[in-house]
Amino acid sequence: PLATTGDLVARAVAARRAVAAFNVITLEHIEAVVSGAETAGAPVVLQVSENAVKFRHGRLLPLARAAVAAAEHAAVPVALHLDHVQGDALLRQAASAGFSSVMYDASRLPYAENLAATRAAAHWAHAQGLFIEAELGEVGGKDGRAPLDAHAPGARTDPAEARAFVADSGVDALAVAVGSVHAMTTRTAALDHDLLKELSGALDVPLVLHGSSGLADGELTEAVAGGIAKVNIGTALNAAMTGAIRRFLAAHPEAVDSRAYLTVGRRAMARTVADLMGVVGGPPA
Ligand code: G3H
Ligand code: ZN
Repeated sequence: PLATTGDLVARAVAARRAVAAFNVITLEHIEAVVSGAETAGAPVVLQVSENAVKFRHGRLLPLARAAVAAAEHAAVPVALHLDHVQGDALLRQAASAGFSSVMYDASRLPYAENLAATRAAAHWAHAQGLFIEAELGEVGGKDGRAPLDAHAPGARTDPAEARAFVADSGVDALAVAVGSVHAMTTRTAALDHDLLKELSGALDVPLVLHGSSGLADGELTEAVAGGIAKVNIGTALNAAMTGAIRRFLAAHPEAVDSRAYLTVGRRAMARTVADLMGVVGGPPA
């Protein structure tokens, strides 16, 4: 059934676990995430990023409608989240398209501007009944930009600043920069677990981990134990899909029917979803 992100995150926090949130680009991604979550037996978040909307010719509705339909027919609770939104026009479409939450990303801006833009977005989101996540500090590697050095000054989230940011903006959850980087294809990132614990102690909103494809199982488990309540995963699905299709086409150069390779791509993603949810856990179904 269709659930809300706010409810799934709250249930994860109550159970001292995290909910897994996967970025979807195609119908195959949507079907794979739902199927993997059903295998894992845990609720899941389907998220559509602003970049994915750009890929879909700027249209949110075709993918959103497919995601809503898949969620309604799922055997586990599935919520829809609009991810890394920078533009107000897209933000305004969230509620009517079936999304229960948005991540408003003004983390590229200096502190005061990030706060002002996020506060306005939170005000608008709450009037629509949406759960809103924002980002402070910057998790690098977005949108093909040179990955920010995760150790550079300003690249990490400062606990005192984060406390003020959450209080002044009114957001419901915060994405923190603690050493992960977006779009990694190896699981070699090392998190600053001490900083994560400090942030978790300083803040009374759930914390969100971005760029989670770059983390090995042990790092993910420790992050959840350290206070992460939502784990965002994107690249791992693309790596699984592309790798499986590449192997299939190499072995079957005569293949023509797109269903043949989409089937193996979808299956590989579903397996990745089930495996990662086995590590992350998830709120009770
Ligand atoms: O918001 C999306 C996530 O941060 C995905 O990051 O593609 O590096 O797993 P990833
Ligand atoms: Zn992200």
